[in-house]
Amino acid sequence: MSLSIPLKGRWKLLNKIGQGGFGEIYCVYDLENQQKAAVKMERIDRNKRALRLEIAVLKKIQESRFSANLVYCGRNNEYNYLVMELLGPNLSTLRKKQPQQRFSLATTIKLGVQMIHSIEDIHEVGYLHRDIKPSNFALRLAKNMKKRNGISPSYCVIIDFGLSRKYVTSEGELRPPREEVGFRGTARYASINSHDGKELSRRDDLWSLFYLFIEFLEGSLPWQRLKEKEEIAQVKKKYTNIGMCRDLPEEFTTFYKHIDSLKYEDKPNYKYLRRLLTDIYHRYGYDENTKYDWQIVRDNLRGVRRSPSLAKSFDSTIAMTGTTNDFSRSKKKSLIRAFSKEIQKEEFDKMNDMFFPKVQEKSQNNSEKQNSKQKNKIQENNQNENGTSKKVKENESEINEFEKMMKMINGEDKSDTTSSLNIDDDRACCIIL
Ligand SMILES: Nc1ncnc2c1ncn2[C@@H]1O[C@H](COP(=O)(O)OP(=O)(O)OP(=O)(O)O)[C@@H](O)[C@H]1O
Ligand SMILES: [Mg+2]
Repeated sequence: MSLSIPLKGRWKLLNKIGQGGFGEIYCVYDLENQQKAAVKMERIDRNKRALRLEIAVLKKIQESRFSANLVYCGRNNEYNYLVMELLGPNLSTLRKKQPQQRFSLATTIKLGVQMIHSIEDIHEVGYLHRDIKPSNFALRLAKNMKKRNGISPSYCVIIDFGLSRKYVTSEGELRPPREEVGFRGTARYASINSHDGKELSRRDDLWSLFYLFIEFLEGSLPWQRLKEKEEIAQVKKKYTNIGMCRDLPEEFTTFYKHIDSLKYEDKPNYKYLRRLLTDIYHRYGYDENTKYDWQIVRDNLRGVRRSPSLAKSFDSTIAMTGTTNDFSRSKKKSLIRAFSKEIQKEEFDKMNDMFFPKVQEKSQNNSEKQNSKQKNKIQENNQNENGTSKKVKENESEINEFEKMMKMINGEDKSDTTSSLNIDDDRACCIIL
């Protein structure tokens, strides 16, 4: 597909910002309102399609403060696509940029409370996410923090509903569990139930969240280096709360015990879990002014321009600790003395780029080249198979359903077809980080 032709004559593709197992994500420029947005594209000739489900779920949670704004969905000759609000960096990228690849307790808790809310909101509309992991949460850009329907949106947003599954019937009853289910999710964060081939339920999204918390706080998980999901399962089974929560505030053990007590049909006590986190937050003396780790870095980097010596000191502290919150004045001073590394302009620019991505002509050209290469390859393959250029085969009914849904989402049809979606659940979905 040519990157120079705007999608629907409206969204001009700029640079690629994400690539996952199910699609490519581009930053686009909306020629109608001169704003940037994000587009998730899925080739229509691939046999595993997830975008239709993703759009249906995103549509259902539009009321939630923790969802990205759905702008439009459409299709052209090559792609189904979803246009949505442009978000900032995902939490996996952010964590990896922290010293020791860890978040502070304060940052983990602030994000954790929002993540529990977002998981609760998906469950409320009858879906499980089934792929809770750091790269499936992203930050909302400051300019999009305006109130929506009178409610302040959240800072951390849940994305990627390609593996979601409806766990209730159309009457709102719990669907009976299937006897045996293929593995779903990402091995590093999957619950033991998922490894054991059990039907997943609400508790399993929270198990993944629990593993994510440990990774945020410790910088890694005990099974980090393992590749085979069977080996990962074995290690997970060995680690009880004592093994994993040993060095953490006791509330994490209580969190573990709550999710461990849940049966397939049980509704988690989301409020109780959030409360456990906020109890720690207050006990440690954090409040609404406590900043996220990356804000501390960014503010301090800004300080560089005003006062190089001050910035130098802060930089040293951050280099050591990742956060200045937990340290007394004298501790900060001694750290500053110990490290007097001059801050680099590139570092400031890198940070700026991370939060306010620029349109990069170069990467656009590269993507254009890559795309035309890919296109040639597909044409070549098609020719090899049939001797002549083969038309991409499509499933008629799926196309009709997608088009019906497009009309409904884009306001051209008032009947809600997403509620009756019969989504195929049998996709191979083992992704190992
Ligand atoms: N609206 C958005 N704005 C900015 N970045 C986004 C947006 N949506 C997705 N991304 C980025 O693209 C990455 C991949 O997106 P997403 O998780 O939706 O794709 P996926 O193909 O389902 O990925 P995977 O299979 O790896 O989980 C995200 O981790 C995020 O960094
Ligand atoms: Mg993803």
